[in-house]
Amino acid sequence: MAEVDLEQRGNSIDEMLKKKRDQNPLPDPETLDDLVQGLKIIFQDNEINVEEVNEYMSKYKSNPREWYKYAKFDHHRYTRNLVDQGNGKFNLIVLCWGEGQGSGIHSHSDSHCFMKVLDGRLDETMYAWPSDSEDERELQKTDTHAYETDGVAYINDSMGLHRVENTSHTNTAVSLHLYSPPFDMVECFDQRTGHRKKVRVTFYSKFGKRTPFGCTSVETLEPEKSENN
Ligand SMILES: [Fe+2]
Repeated sequence: MAEVDLEQRGNSIDEMLKKKRDQNPLPDPETLDDLVQGLKIIFQDNEINVEEVNEYMSKYKSNPREWYKYAKFDHHRYTRNLVDQGNGKFNLIVLCWGEGQGSGIHSHSDSHCFMKVLDGRLDETMYAWPSDSEDERELQKTDTHAYETDGVAYINDSMGLHRVENTSHTNTAVSLHLYSPPFDMVECFDQRTGHRKKVRVTFYSKFGKRTPFGCTSVETLEPEKSENN
């Protein structure tokens, strides 16, 4: 009974917040800071309207001066750089992709995942979930997309798996990712066999400062078991 009451209360708060936003729509985000603050307002709701978030993230026009401090590259792999923890509702992360760098094939821990390209171009390849059988079977590609600067993409587990890559061998790329709810473990998949393993995701920097090795949960990880998704 108490749970039902809480749920009803949550729903009516959501409705109230939505009504308030309909009457006073959020102004377009002119800066990255505006975007972060606006997202915090949107994510006060328990129910997320994917279209609304997509549209709002699209309205921000990438300005390198605003995200430069989060853009830390590594020669060996792409990096994840924490920008904001969204009052516990989401993680906002800048991903930096060197020439030719890409992610493994992964799922998204039942979270919403929004990706906005801040610089360069990123290619996304989508795959179907492997069957539950133990048989080794190559993952089936279902779709491909290319996103240019300021483009926004969305995925959740009901849409399948994906891999994101900077296929350029001459240009780097930078993207802004929002994960809600935040997570620190994902499943990665082997394209050839469909086998999966759980890996912990790590941050290369937090709030513009390089994460010192040995000062975070990263230290407990074996390097080959950490993934930057
Ligand atoms: Fe992803």
